[in-house]
Amino acid sequence: MNFLPLIENKREGKTLAAAQIQEFIREFTAGKIPDYQMAAMLMAIYFRGLSTVETTALTLAMRDSGDGLKFPRDPRPIVDKHSTGGIGDKVSLPLAPLLACLGFRVPMISGRGLGITGGTLDKLDSIPGFQTLLPVKKIISQVQQVGCVICGQTDTMVPADKKIYALRDASGTVPSIPLIVSSILSKKLAENLDALILDVKFGNAAFMQTKADARKLAQAMVALGNQCGTNTRAILTDMNTPLGRAAGNWLEVKESVDCLENKGPADLLELVIDSAAHLLVQTGKSKSSAPARKLAADCLNSGAPRKKWDEMIVAQGANLDAFNKRLRLDSTSEAVLEIKSEKSGFVSKCDARKIGEVIRDLGGGRLAKDSAINYDVGVDGLAKPGEHVEKSGVLCRIHAARSAQAKSAVTRLKSAFEISAKRMAPAPLVVEIISR
Ligand code: URA
Repeated sequence: MNFLPLIENKREGKTLAAAQIQEFIREFTAGKIPDYQMAAMLMAIYFRGLSTVETTALTLAMRDSGDGLKFPRDPRPIVDKHSTGGIGDKVSLPLAPLLACLGFRVPMISGRGLGITGGTLDKLDSIPGFQTLLPVKKIISQVQQVGCVICGQTDTMVPADKKIYALRDASGTVPSIPLIVSSILSKKLAENLDALILDVKFGNAAFMQTKADARKLAQAMVALGNQCGTNTRAILTDMNTPLGRAAGNWLEVKESVDCLENKGPADLLELVIDSAAHLLVQTGKSKSSAPARKLAADCLNSGAPRKKWDEMIVAQGANLDAFNKRLRLDSTSEAVLEIKSEKSGFVSKCDARKIGEVIRDLGGGRLAKDSAINYDVGVDGLAKPGEHVEKSGVLCRIHAARSAQAKSAVTRLKSAFEISAKRMAPAPLVVEIISR
């Protein structure tokens, strides 16, 4: 195909036909369009945008660039959740087994972290023996038998996104709403879902810094998801404060197990129950939000999702004895240090971005795509906004590979907290629901 006129048309702000978009995605995936031309097209899209019709065509062409997941007929609806990511965001871990126990099938295809935001697969990689890369056949059989799987994208699923995302990363074209929408939804639509809940975060540690931008992204994804036949809703959630009291890969697995044992922090529990309740309503399993929330909370309290978690991790190769032994350890890092408050008062700020940056620099996150990470480092015991601390009371604990690293993080971590004489109510976590 002659791709140059299409690049020129988009550069001039003209609309591309769906057939043209389908053809260039097919040709690019087959290696017949060079990266430099595709990068030019991505930059033209970045500046000129795409219409709704063009974004739909791009999303579906990307979805169809590889193999989708094809499940046998079964009365259990197929559902998933996607989060745009943040610090301490471990919702997927307790949510997948909860949804399986509520009678859903959950093919949760997840990603790795880059920069300060953690990735679900990195958290799971901290479990001894756990396999995150599974063939399509295994994904389908585990979903059918266990009810849930959390794993990475296979090489044959949505290959167009893999190639385009790498180019966006290298060409400064990641923050484009039509490109983000098509990237996220092409992967979710390839799971052949009945319903999808999106957690679109805003704040200083989120992809979208402002509520207005998060709303724009959420509205675009909800419109497109529904148009493509998947019942899609979004919640806008605050990511100025970390979710839960722990951040760092293994520490988040531990906190997820706490949540499944009903010992979890309130904000994590709220998002897990909220996400499950939306999916219950979206699939018609519950008539409205209040009974759906009760159903989800009762199911979590029953202990069945905690057992389902064990079943899921064993099905994916985890060594349960080693996992349980690790769970009993207070820390798996060599150095643990408490950060103490210099005065008594109420926590008015617990800055997610600063905490994420410290964890990344301790080795818990990646500066480049292929960097190795340390699963054991992080923070726990975070004091959250609205809570009272005494002078010398603990604001959080640092888990680091060496005591020198822990010590060097103290000043930066202390600066993440603000203590006020007067208690201010913490900002609400879920600020908006966007449905069709
Ligand atoms: N996550 C994705 O999968 N794609 C994007 O473009 C942004 C976030």
